[in-house]
Amino acid sequence: MLPYNFLGFKLKSPIWVASQCPMNPHTQEKHVELFENYVKNGAALVKTQMISNIKQRNGNPFHRVRMAYFENEGKPIGFCNLGRIEESMAYLDEGLSLIHKLKSLQVPVTANIAVHSRQFYNAKIWATLAKRIVAGGADIIEINLSCPNLRANLKIPGQDYGLTVDIVREIKRTVDHIPIIVKFTPDMNLSRLDRFTRGVINAGADGITVVNSPAAIAPPDIYHQGRPKFQGVSGYTYTAVHGPINIYLAYRFVTRIYQIMKEMKKKIELTATGGINKPEQIVELMMLGASTVELSSAILLQGYGFIEKCNNFLDKFMEKQGYTSYASMRGLSHKYIIGHLKVRYREVKARINYRKCTNCGACTRSLCLAWKKVGDKVLVDYEKCSGCGFCKLVCPVGARIVEEV
Ligand SMILES: Cc1cc2nc3c(=O)[nH]c(=O)nc-3n(C[C@H](O)[C@H](O)[C@H](O)COP(=O)(O)O)c2cc1C
Ligand code: SF4
Ligand code: SF4
Repeated sequence: MLPYNFLGFKLKSPIWVASQCPMNPHTQEKHVELFENYVKNGAALVKTQMISNIKQRNGNPFHRVRMAYFENEGKPIGFCNLGRIEESMAYLDEGLSLIHKLKSLQVPVTANIAVHSRQFYNAKIWATLAKRIVAGGADIIEINLSCPNLRANLKIPGQDYGLTVDIVREIKRTVDHIPIIVKFTPDMNLSRLDRFTRGVINAGADGITVVNSPAAIAPPDIYHQGRPKFQGVSGYTYTAVHGPINIYLAYRFVTRIYQIMKEMKKKIELTATGGINKPEQIVELMMLGASTVELSSAILLQGYGFIEKCNNFLDKFMEKQGYTSYASMRGLSHKYIIGHLKVRYREVKARINYRKCTNCGACTRSLCLAWKKVGDKVLVDYEKCSGCGFCKLVCPVGARIVEEV
């Protein structure tokens, strides 16, 4: 693997695991063992779960989480976790002791921090928390304003522009020798994203992570009068959704933030997370502007061996395709992102490979009207075909070919 220089740290690759609260009560030894396995499998740095400013665990010590799945033809495409966030975040003492133990892994330790929801709106409290965490040995701070389970009254703190910028500025002022990353919520539109990106960069952020999990509602169980699909709960609420379903958010946010960075002529670290479940998506995100990537749902769905799989893929991909640095791939797609009015179209048409076609008619049953039937046989109405390529997607046997003419 080629090393990557991240915020002054020489990393062995640009890939690691996102901030994640474990799903059950655990000993710290067990948690550290998990991080050890991440590092053994190639994670270039470690990132803690969110660490709060609460000094002692004063809630229910039995950390309960319930999962409900979004699926498509039996495959999980996303999962929601329902659980009281106070029970799953690390409290200050635990967090500091975790950071201390993680230091022995010889990779930089990033602390993901979030103050208790009652104190969200006080930037000074965020800065005090950051200071304690840095004094405890964290190498990098990631400000988590974006967990949808942290919200008060359905409001995610990272949706508040003034608060976000104030917190970044205050933390930067307090621990100015430490790199500061802001983790964005995907629950905002693109024009708000412009403002937030410019605001946090101007306030001194050294990096942005996109995206945290969006707030969603899990699908109801239609065979049990609409009750929750979560097991063992009486009701449910809006909560975070993780999984492959999120990848479009990562593409969208990485692309737009990279454009803004270029407009501002500022180069900060842009870490992509959200939905990455195939190694190829790492390269896609880099070509859209990400400098580094972090895996989250993939670790739950595929285990930590997936980190090594991604590193191996990236290594071989770069060698075969002739890329000699990560920088040479970063943002490559942007010369093609030109706005639809500027796109020039070349003539593309569909045809059918009759050796494969089973005459099932799947390509004739919706919005494509460019077909006719001669006897039982489906023919492409060549004049009407716009070359959109949809038939290729719906043909179950790969008989549709769409090509330039
Ligand atoms: C079980 C679990 C716990 C998480 N805990 C945190 C956390 O403590 N802090 C945080 O910033 N993000 C947390 N996340 C969000 C992830 O870091 C990541 O941004 C998100 O899962 C999107 O990636 P994905 O769609 O691949 O899962 C958690 C995600 C999961 C699945
Ligand atoms: S390419 Fe589009 S327009 Fe042409 S036949 Fe296929 S679905 Fe119809
Ligand atoms: S969907 Fe494919 S197999 Fe079915 S009729 Fe169309 S081209 Fe033939």
